[in-house]
Parts: sequence; structure tokens; C-alpha cells
Amino acid sequence: MRLIITLLLAKGIFLATASPLSGVAPTFGLASWGLEGYAKDNPIGPTTGGEGGEEVYVSTGKDLLEAVKDDEPRVIYVRGTVELPERAKVGSNKSILGVGWDAHIKKNGITVDGTNNVVIRNLKISYIEGGDCIALNNATRVWIDHNEFESELSLEVGPDTYDGQVDISRAADWITVSWNYLHDHWKSSLVGNDDKLRDVDFGHLHITYHHNHWRRSGTRGPAGRFGHQHVYNNLYEDFLYQAIHSRSDNQVLVEGNVFRGDTREALSTYGLVIPEDSPNTCTCGDEELDGFANLGARNDWGGAGVNITQEGDFYEAEYKYKLTPLWLVKPIVRLGAGVGRI
Ligand SMILES: *[C@@H]1O[C@H](CO)[C@@H](O)[C@H](O)[C@H]1NC(C)=O
Ligand SMILES: *[C@@H]1O[C@H](CO)[C@@H](O)[C@H](O)[C@H]1NC(C)=O
Ligand SMILES: *[C@@H]1O[C@H](CO)[C@@H](O)[C@H](O)[C@H]1NC(C)=O
Repeated sequence: MRLIITLLLAKGIFLATASPLSGVAPTFGLASWGLEGYAKDNPIGPTTGGEGGEEVYVSTGKDLLEAVKDDEPRVIYVRGTVELPERAKVGSNKSILGVGWDAHIKKNGITVDGTNNVVIRNLKISYIEGGDCIALNNATRVWIDHNEFESELSLEVGPDTYDGQVDISRAADWITVSWNYLHDHWKSSLVGNDDKLRDVDFGHLHITYHHNHWRRSGTRGPAGRFGHQHVYNNLYEDFLYQAIHSRSDNQVLVEGNVFRGDTREALSTYGLVIPEDSPNTCTCGDEELDGFANLGARNDWGGAGVNITQEGDFYEAEYKYKLTPLWLVKPIVRLGAGVGRI
């Protein structure tokens, strides 16, 4: 009861300060509500999605597929539950925005492949089989914000029934993943999908992860190869096996994160891909080159392990951002992450 009241109050506060779906709302003061990180500050310009384009409302899978497919700027509002008959292939200059509390994508996920400037906010995407909830391949400037991703984390279902929640590959770049609620899922967010793709990926895959709420997850929160990820102010609860993994010369800057509950390893740069991540390839796990990690503002590891085998040179992010004080990360992320907040 108290929790519900607190939630409602907090929502009131957020609504009072944030204009719905504008993406440039004033902030809570202690964290940025609008776009922040690599999708904003990068050499090719801030992510704007469909800003300035026509606005359309869709409530069927067919209409959604149609609305996203060209490269015209367009703001697409999604109402209610939408079953996608196939994966939505998103063209450039698109905003896909859920309306209210209950915009929900089912059956097939969303792909941004070889296109640019896409915003995806306020959508629940769950139980997507045979593909990722969101797959970004060779895409630049993408903002994934205030969504919810869910499937099932259990030994019966295993790690491979569902694929990733937000997987980012093929030299994708300048991406922010913020305020998402990612839960009950084995392999959450993979960055760089193959250690043989060094020539394609190296020097790309700049991704900011901030104020995400991970809960009851298995691995990859995130797991990166060949890129740079700035991981700050995320809340991890019962992230069972391994949360942040940096391998194959990847670099992470990790700061102001909070780990709670049952988590074996919060951060590792040891190249071994643990058996729980890919139990089918080899029971011993796969060996890759180690990655790098730097620690910025203090993290609260909550008793989880940290294995930094080598420090990198990613000491600070090259943009401005609001760092939430460590003691406020848990309440703020719990109240602010997920759908129905913007
Ligand atoms: C839409 O996207 C394409 C491809 O990324 C780009 O060249 C074009 O300038 C964009 N159009 C507008 C109006 O922003
Ligand atoms: C990315 O997409 C562009 C344009 O569609 C293409 O020319 C390029 O080869 C692609 N790069 C990769 C790594 O797939
Ligand atoms: C930490 O990394 C070292 C390699 O530097 C490895 O030998 C050790 O097993 C790792 N620890 C864990 C818990 O994975």
C-alpha cells in the first residue's frame, strides 16, 4: 500500500515536471529525463527521430509495419496491444511512441538495420520468440527509452528460447538506452555479436546505458565487444550470473550503479564467456580476449564480484550528464524506469 502511494506520488511529480513525449522535458533535478549520452552528443548530431514529420496513430500490426518502413520523418503513436505479423523493419527518421500505460508489442520484435535516427519510447515488448525484442544492426543515432522488456527466466525455458532484449551489432553507433525496465529474461543486451567481427565493429558501438532497471536477469547487462559503453546509475536486482561484461578489447566506464539481491558477478573484463551465457557452445565456456573497464563515481556492488583484469583509457565520458547520487539510485530508478512514466 505504502509502495503504491509512493509510486503515485512520484508519478505525479514526474508528470508535473515532464511534458508528455516531448523528449526535451525538464528533469527531475537529480537525473535527466530527456535525451542524454551518445545518442545526443556525438559527431553526427542529436537523435531527433520523426520530429517535425507527420503524426499517425496505429493500433494494428499491419499499420505499424506500414508506418515505419520508409525514410520520411514520422511520429508513430502506438495504442494498445499490437501483434506484429513479422518483425518491424524501421526506416530512418522515426519516433515510435507508446500511448499511456498499455502500448504493448507482441509476437515479433523491432529491427533497425542500416537506417538512422530512431526513437523508441514507452512500449512494452514481451515474450518475443526467435529474435530480439529490439535489434539494432548497423544503425546510428537511436534512443531506446522508458520501455519494458519481459520474458521468462527459468532453467526449464533456458537461455535460448528468447533472444536478446536490446541487441546492438554490426558497427551500430551513437545509441542511448535509458530508463528501461528489463526483467525476467536470460540474455539481456549484447553489444557486438561475434568476436570474429573485429574489422566491422572496432571503433563503433558507442552506447550509453543509464537509469535502467534490471531485475531477475541472467547475463549481458550489457556484454560488449570492440566498442565503448558508458554504464551509469543503473539498478540491478537479482542479476543472477554476470551483469556487465567487457571482452574482446571492449571498453566500459562503469559508475554510480547499484546491485542488490543475488548477483554472482557485477562486472568482469575476463574474456571467458561463462557457460551460463552460452551453455550450448561448450560446457567450459568460450575464451576470448579480455576487455577493459574503468570505474568513475563509486558503485555499490552489494556483495557481487568484480573482476577487472585490465584498465582501459575510457576514464570519462566526453559529454555532460546528470549523475544521480548513489543513495538515490534505487528509489529513483524504481520509480522512473519502465512504461507509463512519460
Ligand atoms: C531521413 O533519413 C535519411 C537517411 O538516414 C536522411 O538522408 C534524410 O536526410 C532524413 N530526412 C529528414 C527530412 O530528416
Ligand atoms: C551498413 O549499411 C550501409 C547502408 O545501407 C551499407 O553500405 C554498409 O555496408 C553497412 N555496413 C555494415 C557493417 O553492415
Ligand atoms: C578473473 O580473471 C582471471 C584472469 O585474469 C581468471 O583467472 C579468474 O578465474 C577470474 N575470476 C572469475 C571469478 O571469473
